[in-house]
Amino acid sequence: MPATTGKEQKLKVLIRRSAIEKRVREVARQITTDFKGQRVHLIGVLKGACIFLSDLVREINLETSIDFIAVSSYGKGKESSGQVRVLKDLDSSIEGLNVILVEDILDTGLTLSYLLRVLQQRKPKVLRVAALLDKPSRRLKQVEGDYVGFRIPNEFVVGYGLDFGERYRNLKDVCILNPPVA
Ligand code: IMP
Repeated sequence: MPATTGKEQKLKVLIRRSAIEKRVREVARQITTDFKGQRVHLIGVLKGACIFLSDLVREINLETSIDFIAVSSYGKGKESSGQVRVLKDLDSSIEGLNVILVEDILDTGLTLSYLLRVLQQRKPKVLRVAALLDKPSRRLKQVEGDYVGFRIPNEFVVGYGLDFGERYRNLKDVCILNPPVA
């Protein structure tokens, strides 16, 4: 059952698994080129980015390490509360490292701008952002991804790690939830 309405949810494929795989390989290739001969430290923002990070890191042809951070911003619904809180912090220091923060989706930018502020204080050598999806039309904070998989319209999407009330993370395609009736 969905978290809020109890009504049946409809799904419409927006980005197919094959297109995601191809784009993840391209993004990884770009990272490999940009950080040639160096180590990169990927930080996944739980839980949504875990599947993207898992696929991305295996396509990066460099020395890598990974860590995770968990923040709350959306609660159980579709709208951001605007308040960001760290629920699980990093396991280790990022000082002097080439850090790539891995996000599932950039929406209002509230989460990312908060995380960039927090992480920048910890003195990484470089701090970049990789996001599978970007909804630029929803932006409230001026933040951008350095590596963006797909720019998408203002639709609520699920699958490939993204959820609605913890459901649908396991879908292989990115799907629009509740598409308007044509
Ligand atoms: P922001 O702080 O508004 O940019 O939101 C970032 C977080 O909100 C993402 O990391 C997602 O967890 C969640 N989010 C934003 N848009 C969607 C969506 O369309 N589907 C699922 N989760 C979303």
